[in-house]
Amino acid sequence: MKLFDVYPLYEVCPVKAKDVHVYDEAGTEYLDLYGGHAVISVGHSHPHYINRLQEQLNKIAFYSNAVENPLQQQLADEIGEQSCLHDYQLFLCSSGAEANENALKLASFHTGKKRVVAFKNAFHGRTSAAVAATDNQNINAPLNQQQEVTFIPFNDVQALEEELQKGDVCAVIFEPIQGVGGLDMPEDDFVLKMEQLCQQYDTALIADEVQSGFSRSGTFFAFQNNNIKPHVITMAKGMGNGFPIGGILVHPDVKPKYGMLGTTFGGNHLACCASLAVLEIIKKDMLQQHAKEMETYFRSKAEKIKGAKIKGRGLMLGLEFDFEVGPLRKRLIYEKHIFTGGSSNKNVLRILPPLTVQKAHFDQLFDALEDLL
Ligand SMILES: Cc1ncc(COP(=O)(O)O)c(C=O)c1O
Repeated sequence: MKLFDVYPLYEVCPVKAKDVHVYDEAGTEYLDLYGGHAVISVGHSHPHYINRLQEQLNKIAFYSNAVENPLQQQLADEIGEQSCLHDYQLFLCSSGAEANENALKLASFHTGKKRVVAFKNAFHGRTSAAVAATDNQNINAPLNQQQEVTFIPFNDVQALEEELQKGDVCAVIFEPIQGVGGLDMPEDDFVLKMEQLCQQYDTALIADEVQSGFSRSGTFFAFQNNNIKPHVITMAKGMGNGFPIGGILVHPDVKPKYGMLGTTFGGNHLACCASLAVLEIIKKDMLQQHAKEMETYFRSKAEKIKGAKIKGRGLMLGLEFDFEVGPLRKRLIYEKHIFTGGSSNKNVLRILPPLTVQKAHFDQLFDALEDLL
């Protein structure tokens, strides 16, 4: 049987990984400054993560949401503690798109409305409503186009208010730091205004923290740079360090009802255990603080590259050049053995390393760039 060929692949085949490195069959070491799309948060094959999962595997790996699973409550408590969002409610699922799909659905249940406002260059996933709220017509099938979504630019208060005034918008969904779109961020004033307008017009505000959450941005969630309380916060990627887990945090004003949301796999024992291990490592190794320190170091090095603009925050960073970075990324992989990311802004090189990255790893990147540019 052939694989359904939807991914253009680099000719690298990792068979082993440790912390910020992956290794191919020949033992060649690659520096992973991309974390497999920002998924690797606490480093590949972290010993605590492995032990935790092995222990859990020997007890019980899975049972459905028809029975009690205390690991879900432990995870809710730990996310509450680390994010300081004690009064929110946790619903678990298995991916970023599923988290956003559930968030949008919940917003619609809660407000009784159905149109969504999203932003230019947004990426929210590939399921029905999530992909409709994604600003990329190439991945929007005719089926998805039935959803009613209006795209507006970041920081355009007038456009936002005009849409909300129409009275039919269930949700405004935004990435506090755009991922796939190329690391643009809404201005602080706009974020505050967005919260106020959503309250005024009975619209749910959804913060998509699928990529920026779980301490990658230097705060637990990137939106916490602003003093807002979104109705729903979505998360995935770094949450499981590679184990498929996603979730939404729901504002206390939004009340649950049996059957409102559901999933077979979401919140299973192994998934909860993976995420608990991630949170334990983030806390013990102070990775949130470390992300901030590494950002400072990255910026000090990047400032020396002529013509490159630094974007993003924490360890969700980008370098914007005045040329397309595709060929540069190829040379970084094949000649320098360094993984980096691209974005829908073709001039942006994305840097999304494990949160355990050290100064020496950034030195390696900047030495390589100096050679190649
Ligand atoms: C901000 C954001 N939201 C949602 C998603 C979708 O996540 P998943 O691929 O786990 O469905 C992504 C994936 O890149 C993302 O970056």
